[in-house]
Amino acid sequence: MSSTTASAAHDGLRTSDDAARQAKAESLLSPRFYTTDFKAMDRLDVSPMRAEWDKMMAEYEGDNNHDHFQRTPEFAKEVAEVFSQVSPELRQEFLEFLISSVTSEFSGCILYNEIQKNVGNPDIKALMRYMARDESRHAGFINQSLKDFGIGLDLGDLKRTKAYTYFKPKYIFYATYLSEKIGYARYITIFRQLERHPEKRFHPIFRWFERWCNDEFRHGESFALIMRTQPHLLRGGNVLWIRFFLLAVYATMYVRDHTRPMLHHAMGLDSTEYDYTVFRITSEISKQVFPVSLDIDHPAFRAGMERLFHCQTRIDEAKARGGLIGKLQQAGWAVAGAATFVRLYLLPVKQHALPAQVRVAPAW
Ligand SMILES: [Fe+2]
Ligand SMILES: [Fe+2]
Repeated sequence: MSSTTASAAHDGLRTSDDAARQAKAESLLSPRFYTTDFKAMDRLDVSPMRAEWDKMMAEYEGDNNHDHFQRTPEFAKEVAEVFSQVSPELRQEFLEFLISSVTSEFSGCILYNEIQKNVGNPDIKALMRYMARDESRHAGFINQSLKDFGIGLDLGDLKRTKAYTYFKPKYIFYATYLSEKIGYARYITIFRQLERHPEKRFHPIFRWFERWCNDEFRHGESFALIMRTQPHLLRGGNVLWIRFFLLAVYATMYVRDHTRPMLHHAMGLDSTEYDYTVFRITSEISKQVFPVSLDIDHPAFRAGMERLFHCQTRIDEAKARGGLIGKLQQAGWAVAGAATFVRLYLLPVKQHALPAQVRVAPAW
């Protein structure tokens, strides 16, 4: 990361207002809030997947994580002992990470809750209620850690004032499925790394990631089943949309993670290696529902991802420079970024047949 970007990012996070500003920011890279067509959600029919669906609903009902998202007495002690040792730069990156995580957890909570309130369909209503329950626990748990630093978010205010993006149900399915599965892959990869290197666990919240990511995994399973009840969403022209969402989600993650190199470095991870581990897990899982996956080991794919990060760095520098020249440079690099995205989109993909049994076990 350039020093300009680093200082721009690291200057501004001291108060709850700063945190709220980051959470409400609208950019290509920041987590969004969504709304959708509730009537179409109400018309979903999960009966073609009934057996797998009922098994999944029994798991939600069993709620094996009901007691997980509580802080232990040792939590605060560990924050005081371990986190007080980290550098100011790492502290800032970690707090930014917590804010974007709480925003995306809460984004799921709001969307699932709104669907739940606006449908009568008992299957969808029950599912959305369970998922909103889980996401609300996740968001609340992260927010407690922000409150330790006096920068907790007012989630009610965020819900009222952050902008909402409308997505048709099928885009909600593609995007949310992927964000749940990639969320699982990210949390489990961090958890496994810190399991091997406990001395690098600089904050106790990472201890919670293993059971936490099983919730995300199950949320992803739910969308997989919903999509498999509508086979037309998974073939023909819609495959082009699947490719788009796969690339958009991977590219966003790559660029965002590479602007926070210290966070991964402190855990003994290299951002690029970490991201490819996450891509590999996500690609493997998503074969349950998507008939294509991206060729993440293609040299042109890797070069394109690097190029996207480079373009974003230049955009941030131009923004910091300001003025007419800054604006022109910003526009130029935005065009370069978009052209890179198109080239990545046009790379060949891998094709798969869909398995008869949809559900996958969280075995990573
Ligand atoms: Fe979550
Ligand atoms: Fe989730």
